[in-house]
Amino acid sequence: MKIDGTHYRSLWWNAEKDVLEIIDQRWLPHDFRVVPVATMQDFADAIYQMRVRGAPLIGATAAYGMALAMAENSSDANMDAAWTFLEKTRPTAINLRWALDRCRAALRPLPESDRAAAALQLAHEIADEDVEINRRIGEHGLALIRDIAAKKPAGEPVRLLTHCNAGWLATVDWGTATSPMYQAHDAGIALHVWVDETRPRNQGALTSWELGKHGVPHTYITDNAGGHLMQHGMVDMVITGTDRTTRRGDVCNKIGTYLKALAAHDNGVPFYVALPSPTIDWTVSGGVAEIPIEERDAQEITHIQGVTEAGEIGTVRVTPEGTPGGNPAFDVTPNRLVTGLITERGVCAASEEGLAALFPDFAQAAE
Ligand code: MRU
Repeated sequence: MKIDGTHYRSLWWNAEKDVLEIIDQRWLPHDFRVVPVATMQDFADAIYQMRVRGAPLIGATAAYGMALAMAENSSDANMDAAWTFLEKTRPTAINLRWALDRCRAALRPLPESDRAAAALQLAHEIADEDVEINRRIGEHGLALIRDIAAKKPAGEPVRLLTHCNAGWLATVDWGTATSPMYQAHDAGIALHVWVDETRPRNQGALTSWELGKHGVPHTYITDNAGGHLMQHGMVDMVITGTDRTTRRGDVCNKIGTYLKALAAHDNGVPFYVALPSPTIDWTVSGGVAEIPIEERDAQEITHIQGVTEAGEIGTVRVTPEGTPGGNPAFDVTPNRLVTGLITERGVCAASEEGLAALFPDFAQAAE
């Protein structure tokens, strides 16, 4: 997507320097910094510290990490060590394991001398595929937004609500939840997006930054405002992303998503989840019981980063000194609260039958 007229992806290969470059998201929306990811430790830090974040982007980054490992030492032992080293960085987003598994399965049969080049090529393919998948998700989501727009008085915007950042920054490009928004906006449909701030790390500020750069009207709201807006008829549709969706359509996403789904259900507001197929974990059925929820550092709760009026980026504590903080980073929304799943192959019910009908190849392979 574009930043001030220049097209960016959230990561790219710098062929001149032979290195992966990323937008360091820890500084957004206050500062735009591009940094190289040059060592295996850099890769692990980039994912754990959330310089890159969002399930699809974590997966693509891990694929480049595997490429670096193969360039350094293409043995089976080093491949397995890289898999383990990268996989443990973030436990919830399944795209990480999906990308590492795909790399390992493709590289293992090759002679060691061919693995470095093949791994880099595969990382490029995974990144490019993510862009195309998200573009298609946008097309299918656009049809849903178009239907809502058609029932509204002329000129009245479709009012969407989203949680966290499932935008282009969370993928290689387009985003998942935001792709329908960008495509609807580009098609001339009037939109307004309510953006949940998404404490503790305020990924809503990233979403606001993205939407603002693309000219999509939006308002940044507290995490607690959504239910109130829905009660007053001010939300036509919710679209969120997901970090892992089970084979029966339970959706794990950023903490607080479940509460939005409950409020949407209570108010008859359609609640859609946009997801690329690598985010489906076909090995898991019941999300609440089976998906590991990442517990992050309490400092993300007790402290907050921002920019002062003087333009300096800094962190302040918001709690009394020593207050303990609990920080589960994700929650699970049961499938009964999800109106539909927007995938690259179309929209389906959040159910085993719905997903299997769109993805019979993957569903059967997992049996
Ligand atoms: O902790 P984060 O910022 O990586 O969490 C991101 C989300 O929860 C997104 O909604 C999800 O990864 C979908 S991204 C297209």
